[in-house]
Amino acid sequence: MENNRSSWGSNLGFLLAAIGSAVGLGNIWGFPYKMGKSGGFTFLIVYLLLAIFVGMIIMVSELAVGRKTKLSPIDAYQKVSKKFAWIGWLATIAPFLIMSFYTVLGGYCLQYIALNMTKLSFGNDAVAMSGGEIFGAMLTTPLGCVVFTILFIVICMVIVQGGVSGGIEKFNKVGMPALFVMLLIIIVRSLTLPNASEGLKFMFVPGYAVKAGFIESSPNLITVLGTAGGQMFFSLSLAMGAILTYGSYLSKEENLVKNSVIIVASDTLIALMAGIAVIPAAVANGIANGTPVGQIKLSGPNLLFVTLQDVFSNMGKVGPLFGVIFYVLVLIAAISSAISLMETIAAHWIDKDLQKGETDTRQRNVLIVSLLILIEAVVVAADGLGSNFSPASLLGISAPPVFLDCFLDFMDCWSEGIAMPLGAMLMALMIGWEKGPGLVLDEVAHGDPSAGFKAFYRVCVRFVVPIVMAFVLAGQMMDFFGGSQVIWYIVAVALLVIFWVIAASGEKKTE
Ligand code: PFF
Repeated sequence: MENNRSSWGSNLGFLLAAIGSAVGLGNIWGFPYKMGKSGGFTFLIVYLLLAIFVGMIIMVSELAVGRKTKLSPIDAYQKVSKKFAWIGWLATIAPFLIMSFYTVLGGYCLQYIALNMTKLSFGNDAVAMSGGEIFGAMLTTPLGCVVFTILFIVICMVIVQGGVSGGIEKFNKVGMPALFVMLLIIIVRSLTLPNASEGLKFMFVPGYAVKAGFIESSPNLITVLGTAGGQMFFSLSLAMGAILTYGSYLSKEENLVKNSVIIVASDTLIALMAGIAVIPAAVANGIANGTPVGQIKLSGPNLLFVTLQDVFSNMGKVGPLFGVIFYVLVLIAAISSAISLMETIAAHWIDKDLQKGETDTRQRNVLIVSLLILIEAVVVAADGLGSNFSPASLLGISAPPVFLDCFLDFMDCWSEGIAMPLGAMLMALMIGWEKGPGLVLDEVAHGDPSAGFKAFYRVCVRFVVPIVMAFVLAGQMMDFFGGSQVIWYIVAVALLVIFWVIAASGEKKTE
């Protein structure tokens, strides 16, 4: 079967694809806002420490398990572990749930490209509405959202059907450099606006978010840890099967540690650059329009589709041109991440067919996966972030917790909120305590075994990652379900202890 399995054309192709998976909506709307809100440089340092001690470890582990087994997540975990075989299911269902809303957001980008092209062709007044009015009108027009979501899914489907090197690698080889150049253009425009420095202060100066009125008080270190951990996992595409799947197409010669460092560093650099591109522009435009600084919307869909659209509309004749460049940039980021999620799901069935001796089933399997994604995405698209209906209204619940307000949050809660931190915690316990770190270190050795890295890896995978992941899990559950912080910490620690005991009991380990 191995001979017929797909592989990357080159290590550079793999790197660009993995960076493409990592660089996505999470970098553009998640990172800058969370950094500003959580103490600027303090957040950055916590984020970097987590990326080194936790993110890197999970990244190397996923790449190693993928390359060692040459299988997609469900079969890969079944092959390496008896006790934790089911992590593979978590790592396949979670991407499926993420796709339900990621594709809808991709569809919004397509609509905003069309909108700015209309303004570019017929003048700014062709659509004389504010960003808020445009976004509101779009959300309450389900048909348009559904059509553009389908278009986004079709684009991803065609790329993934093209194959690992013929589709995914090719797209990223062009898309990633293009994204980088467009980001530089937007940065230059953003930083040359009057008052842009106020936006930089939001991102980098500790305490500024409180002083300017964005938040009432600075979050404590535990909250910062939870926020930074959740962001880091989502942003690096970890514990979602995507990196494992991409690793399964990688040749034995490649250095997994070096590759992981490059992916983590590039993703963080792009997140910082994205912040420098969008936050100063949003703040400068708000100040120019007399909005009190603390009330400028700098987070989530509002930042991308309300605040920034206003920035481009207020830039005069060239505004729509920058609008088109910006939304194409976001679209490329969304596609390069979405195709990694689609590949992760489809790879399961492609592998199954290969095991039965059937080759060339990619087209059919990717089509079926796309149709399944389309069904769930249509619900999220029609929901319009809760403007048209919500899980709570469908269930007839009158006082919903936050995650029942709209389908996007509902899907995000199970995938990013629970499956991701739980999956990472279990993976570390499986490697550290059930199988032994040798499972990964032997595979890493094909590239470059260094004694220092081995010692570092053993300590992190056994102790640091499981414990930090329990904190992140508690933080995420707090965010989504609300309620007492203490209760969620008790739940997370209880889960950690139970699975730790299960992992450590019986069997021989490889060091
Ligand atoms: N890393 C992507 C982002 O920052 O938007 C999202 C993502 C892609 C998460 C792929 C998980 C994944 F497997």
